[in-house]
Amino acid sequence: MGGAKHADAGLARFLPATVTAVVGFALGLVVAWGVGQGGTEQAPSVASGGASTSPEVPAAPSESAIPRVSASASGTAEPIVAPSTVFDMDKYSIDEADSPWVVVNKLRPLDPKTYVPDDLGAVNGVSFTDGGSIRAEAGDALAQMHEDAQAEGLNFRVSNAYRSYARQNDLYSVYVNRSGTAKADTFSARPGYSEHQTGWSADLYDSDACRLLACFGDTEVGRFIADHGAEYGFIVRYPEGDQDITGYIYEPWHVRYVGVDLAMEMRDRGVATLEEFFGLPDAPSYAS
Ligand code: DAL
Ligand code: ZN
Repeated sequence: MGGAKHADAGLARFLPATVTAVVGFALGLVVAWGVGQGGTEQAPSVASGGASTSPEVPAAPSESAIPRVSASASGTAEPIVAPSTVFDMDKYSIDEADSPWVVVNKLRPLDPKTYVPDDLGAVNGVSFTDGGSIRAEAGDALAQMHEDAQAEGLNFRVSNAYRSYARQNDLYSVYVNRSGTAKADTFSARPGYSEHQTGWSADLYDSDACRLLACFGDTEVGRFIADHGAEYGFIVRYPEGDQDITGYIYEPWHVRYVGVDLAMEMRDRGVATLEEFFGLPDAPSYAS
């Protein structure tokens, strides 16, 4: 679980975008030179298509990361290079329990397994049905998302957010007794392996009809969260069809705060899971 490993994975992921940028820059120079030499607007069709629209190339981190070249009134090529917005894969740790990017799954328990966040609290204006709390930064984001959802006539409550090791142990034991270990492991984490214990996650719902059920994803609130959660720093942590990667069934109600930068980067690049984004092994089951 070293930082170097995910840094390498990140570099590999960005290589195509980097190549795209360089090729785009070179083609842009040619185009600008052509315009400067009396060329026409049609000539750049190769440059404006080409590498950046190839389906082989993942979405670039941002349009502004690609250096552009324009022709000035005098016809002189002027490079207009936007500040680099290449995503920093090492901004936060994916290993430390305290980090907003910590990746917790069946192969990556919290360290220590009994970790407790130190800034848990309630959220103004958001009801926590089962009591409970969430980390301060995630709470602020949740409050904003709630306010904006309400402005659109939507409402949601928090079923559950932070859970201690002991609470997770109790819950998991109930599910094992009720459904057996194999089944319980598909929807409940073992103590020390739950994102809820990080204090960054919350289970949201709007009505009891789809509370903690897949149909929540088809509700207006569920769709709002899936579509706009990233704008507040949240991802739906257990997407549909990714159980082989995350280890858990589709949980449209379970959001994880990772911060706006990462959530938006994942959305822009169409990467649904933290495992894929950071190049981590799939975690369908426990090591032992
Ligand atoms: N339901 C999620 C996987 C948990 O128990 O943490
Ligand atoms: Zn949850």
